[in-house]
Amino acid sequence: MNSSNSIDFHVKPGGRLQGRLRVPGDKSISHRSIMFGALAEGVTHITGFLEGDDALATLNAFRQMGVRIEGPEGGRVTIQGVGMQGLKAPKEPLDVGNSGTSMRLLCGLLAGQGFEVTLTGDSSLSGRPMRRVTAPLAKMGANIETTAAGTAPLVIHPVDHLQGIDYQMPVASAQVKSCLLLAGLYAQGQTSTTEPAPTRDHTERMMRGFGYEIQREGATATLTGGGRFVACDLDIPGDISSSAFFLVGAAIAEGSDLLLEHVGINPTRIGVINILREMGADIEVLNQRDAGGEPVADLHLRSSQLKGIKIPEDQVPLAIDEFPALFIAAACAKGETILTGAEELRVKESDRIQVMADGLVALGIDARPTPDGMIIQGGQLKGGTVDSHGDHRIAMSFAIAALRASGEITITDCANVNTSFPGFVSLAAGAGLKITS
Ligand code: S3P
Repeated sequence: MNSSNSIDFHVKPGGRLQGRLRVPGDKSISHRSIMFGALAEGVTHITGFLEGDDALATLNAFRQMGVRIEGPEGGRVTIQGVGMQGLKAPKEPLDVGNSGTSMRLLCGLLAGQGFEVTLTGDSSLSGRPMRRVTAPLAKMGANIETTAAGTAPLVIHPVDHLQGIDYQMPVASAQVKSCLLLAGLYAQGQTSTTEPAPTRDHTERMMRGFGYEIQREGATATLTGGGRFVACDLDIPGDISSSAFFLVGAAIAEGSDLLLEHVGINPTRIGVINILREMGADIEVLNQRDAGGEPVADLHLRSSQLKGIKIPEDQVPLAIDEFPALFIAAACAKGETILTGAEELRVKESDRIQVMADGLVALGIDARPTPDGMIIQGGQLKGGTVDSHGDHRIAMSFAIAALRASGEITITDCANVNTSFPGFVSLAAGAGLKITS
């Protein structure tokens, strides 16, 4: 570690992944657990909460709006719900750091609160598109200012009332869907979102868990404003997006045999399992069970020779956060892997198509970026230095790549790994990755 803001990973080549481990709690579910717990009537107890910077940004935002929250401590959080109308205007802007989910979901939740509030973020988040939420919110009657480029800071002005809309989403985005459904809680009449492809449905599941009626018909989710949430207890499963680094690592490192315990396997999140299996990965799904309305399982992983594939486009939204790790799998596979239909990767925490292609090329792989994906020829990874551009998932993906590299890999700008996966270095090292920071 150089300083608190500048962390590099150094990963020696080779090794295999073994043993059993539990990755931290699901990021998407952790964000939502705070939001719904805060708006509920009664006390919500959460276990398995992700103590990463992104979910903590959401937690702190609600503290700034007057909600009493105890923890997190060992993944336990207790929220004294204030009810739908109980939030107070924060004294300062709400700074949500690197977290797109906090910014886009809060934007909807706050649009109809009746107080003024500003949302800010770090330089990466301040470059990401926000019109995808502010434009439909404006149709509902919201008054939200962005920069001329349609980015944060977002200044949310109070309005008399919001009106429900029926919105056909141009992009398959769970953040857009959730933003509008949260705004719909405060709107007159019905709010409906129709998605062009299935996206993660944690918002809908959790709303039901908190006793709010929400209908789902095909691709359309509909709710009526003016209802209430009733507090409940939540056990948050391990994050399949954090598991993805181990799914890929165990697949590519010969001799690996790893058990990941208590991983969320919501059908809208399992694209990474489907894609890796099609590439020839050995993934066993064991002990399927339910944890608070979300399906959970243990995943038994063993190494195998992967083969290149044309990734089915219908799997893209179901694996949207896992492509950095999947590109490493493709680099280690026999033959060519082609990804199309994934232009959304260009507006994540970094431009994940360009940044991953640059890193793979630096490590000797033939990786050609395209406007909406990448073409990768499997080959021999060599050692070298790659820049993660402050993107947590890029940093962890190149760390895992060292399992199959011929030389040491150094990854720069890794501090943001803490946004989604605090403890990654020690957990990965414990399983066999030769990593130091
Ligand atoms: C998320 C939705 C996805 C995902 C993000 C978390 C969520 O974003 O990439 O990490 O919790 O709703 P998009 O909705 O922009 O695809």
